Amino acid sequence: MKDGKFLTIAFESSCDETAVAVLAEGRNVLSNVISTQIEIHKVFGGVVPEIASRHHLENINAVTEQALTEAGVTWEEIDLIGVTKGPGLVGALLVGIATAKAFAMAKKKPLVGVHHIEGHISANYIACKELVPPFTALVISGGHTNLVEVTDYHECCVLGGTRDDAAGEAFDKVARVIGLGYPGGPLIDKLAQEGNPHAVEFKRVYLEKDSLDFSFSGIKTGVLNYINSEKQAGRKIVPADVAASFQQAVLEVIVDKAVSAAARMGEKKLVLAGGVAANSALRRLLKRACAEKEIAFFCPPPVLCTDNAAMIACAAYYAYQAGIRDDFTLDAYPALPL
Ligand code: KG4
Ligand code: ZN
Repeated sequence: MKDGKFLTIAFESSCDETAVAVLAEGRNVLSNVISTQIEIHKVFGGVVPEIASRHHLENINAVTEQALTEAGVTWEEIDLIGVTKGPGLVGALLVGIATAKAFAMAKKKPLVGVHHIEGHISANYIACKELVPPFTALVISGGHTNLVEVTDYHECCVLGGTRDDAAGEAFDKVARVIGLGYPGGPLIDKLAQEGNPHAVEFKRVYLEKDSLDFSFSGIKTGVLNYINSEKQAGRKIVPADVAASFQQAVLEVIVDKAVSAAARMGEKKLVLAGGVAANSALRRLLKRACAEKEIAFFCPPPVLCTDNAAMIACAAYYAYQAGIRDDFTLDAYPALPL
């Protein structure tokens, strides 16, 4: 039931989740349907773009129907359509965009294309109703690692980012090296809970003094070299210790830089976003570090950290409030900068 509320429906298909959500007043989730393709891509050890596009195409209509049914609303009651326009896999993005444009045209609804990372940050508005900009955000996912100053709902400036691999990419690559499955992040998270985080001291990469940039490409080689040298020496490798030590090395740097960025900004508010934000150790370490520095810490529940359409609907709502509109020339932007 609409009850005079502003309703946004949004589509997210940038990688391997086909997701559709309906939100009321930009922050209240009426439905958040996520159809994941993880099982399909698992056998290949990573997302196969062509297969992802095909499955989005097969699933998107049923997921849309389910999102409307669960929300208890009809197309006629919808006020706005949001969709991820990039970055992401081009073929995958195009499925969501074509669907959003088709419905916008057929149902005569306004359309707003959303930056995927702006979506991830917006998940925090859903999780925490009192959160308002400005704040510092740490966005860490499979494709991105950024420290961002969010100055308004639809405005931000980048403070730092990765110079090579994204944090999630490092988790996935190291998981493969240790012999875990895909996606590696959640598996390392789980295995690390049984290991000693100080068993192996992998290098902490801070770059130049005061830099808010990151580099994660070296640690995969570090883990590989460690495993090879232990094997050559005939010593037994304890995968849980390697997972815990890798995670500790990466997270220590991330936490230090995020807290120092938030402390440099006046507001003293740190917001966590993106798939890696679901990591239990990261959430625990950041919470503690923020408390020590009297920085308010916000993070969404894990289901809103990994890809979903509720976060896209929220970002679309605030972009629409700021006067943003897209027309039917809206396209997919696989490498869209922040
Ligand atoms: O945001 P997301 O769902 O997709 C992208 O936009 O990339 O992030 C996916 C990434 C993957 O690299 C996955 O391994 C990682 O997030 N991830 C995690 C955890 N859950 C997902 N990394 C560490 N710990 C987790 N619990
Ligand atoms: Zn994402």
